Amino acid sequence: MPRYAIATEDDEIKTSARTVAATEFHDSDESLFEQVAWLYAFCRERLFRDDTERMIATLWRNGGPLPGTQLIELGCGPGFYSRRLAERFQHISVIGVDRSENQLLWARQRAAACELRNCSFERVNVLDLPCADRCFDVLIASRLFTVLPERNRAVAEMYRVLKSGGRCFIAEPRYMFWASIPLFAMWLLASMTHSGNGYREPRKATVFSASAFEKVFAAHPWKRVKIWQDGRYQYALCEKD
Ligand SMILES: C[S@@+](CC[C@H](N)C(=O)[O-])C[C@H]1O[C@@H](n2cnc3c(N)ncnc32)[C@H](O)[C@@H]1O
Repeated sequence: MPRYAIATEDDEIKTSARTVAATEFHDSDESLFEQVAWLYAFCRERLFRDDTERMIATLWRNGGPLPGTQLIELGCGPGFYSRRLAERFQHISVIGVDRSENQLLWARQRAAACELRNCSFERVNVLDLPCADRCFDVLIASRLFTVLPERNRAVAEMYRVLKSGGRCFIAEPRYMFWASIPLFAMWLLASMTHSGNGYREPRKATVFSASAFEKVFAAHPWKRVKIWQDGRYQYALCEKD
């Protein structure tokens, strides 16, 4: 059964999010995001670009989301975007999923401090989302592919869980140098404080050229895919038929 540290109490909102069950992970203790969770949360909240307004303007061009909109964030880390969107739009239901329990702990604590009742976080593998097909209206993922080699499988899951007419917004860094700085700092700190055995993310981030980024989405029959670059980031907006 799903666990929810922060569950919505509004019975009117029968969330798809509630049907996302937790996943068992066997190697995630060795993840940098687990070992030095605070360092990533610091980078996310203080150093990285905040794309909240860009997401809102891109996803909801005619104003905001409709009441009852179901939104999922894949690889939510400390839950920065899930919390911001849930706070801004209290009539939607948001779930952030990640493999790192320590990132989720951070996310849940911050959401609880803001008394967010429409936002929950679950430990889930984004490559095998434990939820039905077509249950989310909106999906977001930020900086996920920088650390996730199985991006085709992740995009297949994105496509599967989106409803018809659903949209996903993806944000990825463009330059390996800038994207690798936080990973390298985490790797360095984890090397000093934890044993080096087992799974670790690479020291260098993976980044895509514009054409490679476009190809990531090509395997699925999206109604529309828009790709664009802005400074150190690139974005994709994909709409399902
Ligand atoms: C670079 S962080 C991005 C966090 C956040 N989205 C942001 O904008 O900063 C990547 C996140 O993806 C998570 N992650 C990596 N592989 C995953 C998987 N297979 N399933 C779920 N989460 C995963 C990591 O634990 C990490 O929190």
